[in-house]
Amino acid sequence: MNITVIGTGYVGLVTGACFAEMGNSVVCIDVDPDKVERLQQGHIPIYEPGLDAIVTNNSKAGRLRFSTDLAAAMQQSALYFIAVGTPPDEDGSADLSHVLQVAGQIGQHLSRDAIVVNKSTAPVGTADKVAHVIRQQLQTRGVTDVHFDVVSNPEFLKEGAAIDDFMRPDRIVIGVESNHARQVMAELYQTFSRNHDKVMFMGVRDAELTKYAANAMLATKISFMNEMANLAERMGVDIEQVRKGIGSDSRIGYSFIYPGCGYGGSCFPKDVQALVRMGAEYDYNTSVLNAVEQRNQSQKQRLFEKLQQRFPDLAGKVIAVWGLAFKPGTDDMREASSITLINALAEAGARIQAYDPVAMDEAKKHFPASWFDDGTIRLCAHQYDALENADAMVLVTEWKPFRQPDFNAIGKLLKQPIIIDGRNQYDPHSLKQQGFDYTGIGRDI
Ligand code: UGA
Repeated sequence: MNITVIGTGYVGLVTGACFAEMGNSVVCIDVDPDKVERLQQGHIPIYEPGLDAIVTNNSKAGRLRFSTDLAAAMQQSALYFIAVGTPPDEDGSADLSHVLQVAGQIGQHLSRDAIVVNKSTAPVGTADKVAHVIRQQLQTRGVTDVHFDVVSNPEFLKEGAAIDDFMRPDRIVIGVESNHARQVMAELYQTFSRNHDKVMFMGVRDAELTKYAANAMLATKISFMNEMANLAERMGVDIEQVRKGIGSDSRIGYSFIYPGCGYGGSCFPKDVQALVRMGAEYDYNTSVLNAVEQRNQSQKQRLFEKLQQRFPDLAGKVIAVWGLAFKPGTDDMREASSITLINALAEAGARIQAYDPVAMDEAKKHFPASWFDDGTIRLCAHQYDALENADAMVLVTEWKPFRQPDFNAIGKLLKQPIIIDGRNQYDPHSLKQQGFDYTGIGRDI
């Protein structure tokens, strides 16, 4: 099939590359000419395992191209994927301006029957808005003989595992209204559900809410578990035992019940807030989701609070931070717990020595340049460099090289043997035996 993907961000790039990998001919469009040029030269703007090779191979094979020319791409295909961002507005609702702008451009250039697929995470009712904008443009142009469908096909990709998630999805949710669109989408996705049919057809609005409900459910599991962890701390209970105890119940399951220092990323915080806003629009108080959001905000403060318990005055103290990305496997720092921690430390007058395997360049964008100049933050070349003469070490992101570190070396490098483990990676008993003052999340035992 000939496919146009509009937006070369995370979702657009992965979608375009994976469709090309399956033999389709894909043109990825972006308004940013520099980005397009870099992509044409094979430079991938994000860190995503496996993406580089797929983009390079398919570009070489001529199946994947990058361009700024939407009109030309639309001439070559009748299947247009919208994959532009829906960042949070000031009030937390999803900002649809990019999606609707693309819809407007599609309306300006549409000259054949086509299917417009929305892949961006967008509130219930967005497909109707997209259709309305396209229709308006067609009317303005006096075009009456062109038919189009708007389909909702949300993505369920995890950063760091996006290629695998796309190639071997749990399910493919497709919201359609017409038989024709249903047939085309079934044909496009049949190769991704060979063993058993993973495609789920539903109404467009059903698909739109499915995406938000999935993320909100996962965020709810995490916030619930974080609440249990905070309770466990007060009760002298080890939350890790509780986690295993409840995860073994197949109705609950082991996934997404890891307590920690809060969820981050470009999806959960944004989508929970957007769903709360959608509730408000329908005059409904989403009290569970409000609590999920609140718990997460305060959970992100936990690491700083734990440091404060040890150092009532943090001014002049040096804190080693292991991990800056919002989770392992990505350089993405959006809404990362490391940001909340580092901001609070800087405000308290502490100095930060940080290390992350891939997010060091990204870190420079998230803090004021003056903090790097005046030594408030030092980005260290090696994980152990960050510990030198530090008063405490905080594990924020559970990258693999942090999981079984050399505790002997850690003990020697730290000025004080304090370890705050934001992801419960270490064994409290063994670390206490080795003389560390260790605390995790929900296991002050
Ligand atoms: C999430 C969803 O998992 C994807 O299915 C979805 O497609 C994506 O959002 C999206 O909407 O685009 P992602 O943001 O990449 O994917 O990251 P997750 O792996 O879900 O982790 C989110 C956050 O939750 C991380 O900060 C992680 O550390 C935290 N987390 C996760 C926990 O604190 N505990 C857990 O048990 C699991």
